[in-house]
Amino acid sequence: MRDYIDGIDGLHGRKIVLGVCGGIAAYKAAELVRVLKKMGADVCVALTGSGARFVSALTFQALSGNPVWTSLWDGQGAGGMAHIALGRGADAILVAPATADMLARLAQGRADDLLSTLCLARDCPLLVAPAMNRQMWERAATQRNVATLQGDGVTILGPAEGEQACGETGLGRMLEPDALAAALLAFFTPKLLAGRRVVLTAGPTFEAIDPVRGITNSSTGKMGYALAAACARAGAETVLVSGPVALPVPDGVCRIEVTSALRMRDAVLAALPGADVFIAVAAVADYRPATVDGHKIKKSGEPLRIELVPNPDILAEVAARPDAPFCVGFAAESRDLDAYAEGKRQSKRLPMLVGNLIADGLGGDENTAVIYDAEGRHPLPRAPKTFIARQIVEHLARLLPAA
Ligand code: C5P
Repeated sequence: MRDYIDGIDGLHGRKIVLGVCGGIAAYKAAELVRVLKKMGADVCVALTGSGARFVSALTFQALSGNPVWTSLWDGQGAGGMAHIALGRGADAILVAPATADMLARLAQGRADDLLSTLCLARDCPLLVAPAMNRQMWERAATQRNVATLQGDGVTILGPAEGEQACGETGLGRMLEPDALAAALLAFFTPKLLAGRRVVLTAGPTFEAIDPVRGITNSSTGKMGYALAAACARAGAETVLVSGPVALPVPDGVCRIEVTSALRMRDAVLAALPGADVFIAVAAVADYRPATVDGHKIKKSGEPLRIELVPNPDILAEVAARPDAPFCVGFAAESRDLDAYAEGKRQSKRLPMLVGNLIADGLGGDENTAVIYDAEGRHPLPRAPKTFIARQIVEHLARLLPAA
């Protein structure tokens, strides 16, 4: 699971019914149960007869910690009403993998096994992750069924393109468990930033000294990436200008990769038109070498002096524009957090700034932060960066002027 994006608590308190049909991708449903559980969800598996031919009920029972439901006729203490009882109280039913046959039966409203009956009797959203051979997927009948399901308000997740179990290549692979979990989380996230465009910076910058050396810092980009993911999930068109980090692009985020502060500034200014929000999370180098040597500097045994010149302050520059978007700054301090952070917010003329002590957050997966705005300070208790990111999005959505 991509902890830094999706969080270990993202589905806390959610009850998910996972329907597993008979396709080779059923083996990935076992991993999906594990990921959903790790994100805090309570998972109940409904396994079709063909699904049980691929993965046993025992596997799902062990991973979910709940009894597995396989038949319309085993009441399992539900007063013989498994098809009603199982769906009640669920926040969503996710069918993964959903075979071509299951899509057809759901589209027709059939109720001839436990899973199809459960879907028909539900009072919660239904999401399906198709998985099948590419020709089965492309067949007009399947496409008709998918369109019918979409028209009925069912959310279709995927399929992805790639190598298939049958040896062919094309559309029809089930989305990976991580991507399905992320899609489920996005599905539940309130769209607080719908219709907004958000530009962010994240990670360190790398200021070249010569072709192989440079000045950088230990920022991992985790906070900025978690925040970009949270903005995208909240419905924003999200552009992430990123310094060099080892993190994958969060779903729904457009990433622009840069190295130096000057390139980061260029990319931000190019992405800015139409932006409602600018969030500067990057640990931008304050200085860069005055000149970059075209060749590798040779060792001489003598002291070497490198002249450094100041880099532009990207955030201050954006905030000072007459057409400035809503600007959010970050301040990582080693002491006197309140004084430095609030001072920075005022000197850069920012409506909102997030401050933290370096010892609390740098490099790790958790952080303790304080939001500063015109109203004062708002402490955020120690939590995973993904959770902090969600709280920052909620706070800025409240302060954002109406579109
Ligand atoms: O002044 P200081 O570097 O402490 O301010 C931190 C805030 O300013 C962060 O939001 C950071 O991303 C942003 N910043 C910037 N360009 C710089 C330096 C900092 O955008 N050159």
